[in-house]
Amino acid sequence: MGTGGPFRPDMTIVLAGMRRPTLGGVVGENKGGKSFMRIGVYGLGYVGAVTVGCMAELGHKVIGVDVADHKVELVLAGEAPVVEPGLNEFLARHVADGQITATTDGKSTATDVDVVMLAVGTPSTPSGGIDPQYLMAVAGQVGAGLRDNPRPFVTVMSRSTSLPEVHEALIAELESASGRKLGESLGYACHPEFLRETTAIADFFDPPVIVFGADDPQTFMQCRDLYPGIDAPTVEVGIGEAAMVKYAANCFHALKVTFANEMGELCRTFGIDSRSVMEIFCQDDKLNISSKYLRPGNPFGGSCLPKDLRAILDVARDKAVTVPMLSGTLLSNQHQIDSLAERVLTDRPARVAVIGLSFKEGTDDLREAPMVAVVERLLGKGVDVAIFDAELAVEDLTGANKSFAMTAVPHLADLVSRDLTGVLEGADAVIINHRLADITDWTDITLDSDTQIMDLVSTPGLANHPGYQGIYWHRTDRAEHITLA
Ligand SMILES: NC(=O)c1ccc[n+]([C@@H]2O[C@H](COP(=O)([O-])OP(=O)(O)OC[C@H]3O[C@@H](n4cnc5c(N)ncnc54)[C@H](O)[C@@H]3O)[C@@H](O)[C@H]2O)c1
Repeated sequence: MGTGGPFRPDMTIVLAGMRRPTLGGVVGENKGGKSFMRIGVYGLGYVGAVTVGCMAELGHKVIGVDVADHKVELVLAGEAPVVEPGLNEFLARHVADGQITATTDGKSTATDVDVVMLAVGTPSTPSGGIDPQYLMAVAGQVGAGLRDNPRPFVTVMSRSTSLPEVHEALIAELESASGRKLGESLGYACHPEFLRETTAIADFFDPPVIVFGADDPQTFMQCRDLYPGIDAPTVEVGIGEAAMVKYAANCFHALKVTFANEMGELCRTFGIDSRSVMEIFCQDDKLNISSKYLRPGNPFGGSCLPKDLRAILDVARDKAVTVPMLSGTLLSNQHQIDSLAERVLTDRPARVAVIGLSFKEGTDDLREAPMVAVVERLLGKGVDVAIFDAELAVEDLTGANKSFAMTAVPHLADLVSRDLTGVLEGADAVIINHRLADITDWTDITLDSDTQIMDLVSTPGLANHPGYQGIYWHRTDRAEHITLA
């Protein structure tokens, strides 16, 4: 089992809704004639209690499990153990109609379920890591119960937020406690939860996306029976990717709040109403509130972003405004440029080919282009550098553009060429910074098998080259395939 590692395109399936063929995870029909599964939900906190109520509303039979007697008693009485608008009604209705029951006996529950959902807490350790003790304890109980479960295949899904390594440990514990083997009689899915407290029920029935991370087809098939009637974009990926989607979402949400507040503080210092500024900012759903600028790859550069960020940091210093996130942004970008150069230098290449010098393809603007800094660093280490850039004619550069490039790389004209084959010839390493519109298939380009490739732009057709490295990924195929319906 691996929670990350090389992508497998067959595991990347994007569904426009939940109406896909299934293997038969559906085990029966409820009174309304809807299909249902028997689901054990472990943990009756915010996520677990909402899951119990909403899964029953979808037609499943649900057993809520918690170590806390009072939470179990509340659920059995049809009352929510947490404050969440609308939840009491669901629990009352479905305890009354027999769809929901609850117990403190986690082991027995696992003897008679099709699916287990883990929703116990994953609190912080003193150092900030994840404390997996509740998850591991539940895995032990569930595994023990699964030994007596007659079903040939049972899937355990974790809704608790945890890192890829925790999922690996959980799978190991489940296998050992149950005597079942992953992918044969035991399924495991990371199924991250995106609900927000106070709007949890609305979020459950209208999720932005449903994500299942698993390593075997039968688990995916069982996952597909979970949400009958809910029409939401659904993504099936590896366990590690699913786990990291949840962390990406929460880190981004935290970053958005902090960004708005740092902007607020700057605006307040200038006597400007930050509410208007951010309101207008948010109206731009082409560049600001959009998927733009959210793909891992190149560090940022160009004539505007670094300059304007520096101006804001300068005025913030002047006015004693503390904006650690914005300061950190510049530091982080510089770190990315430095570490890119270090990674290319690791194998001590004598000759490096650079495909694309400007900060993005289609322009000859070299001002603050990260690749200029990388080339400067490589030259400083005595590396022979050859550059291909489809738009760049060094003799035509003028003004600030010319002076920035010439200050960093005085002999730039000698390094740049429009002859791609010549640039690549004899290169020990290639940095691909631009996608070349004319080259749709890099397999047509002859590269020695021992040439190291550092790809910043998800270049198609190169992933199988033995020297291939994506700057922040193993292979490019996955990113090409994912389009949310
Ligand atoms: N609260 C949210 O809005 C939210 C949203 C998305 C994801 N999450 C994640 O979901 C997970 C659960 O969060 P929460 O806020 O619902 O937690 P919570 O602390 O409210 O509830 C956890 C429950 O698990 C129970 N529990 C502990 N050990 C148990 C065991 N061995 N068997 C059965 N029950 C046991 C506890 O008694 C408690 O009732 C966390 O990983 C959290 O990060 C939370």
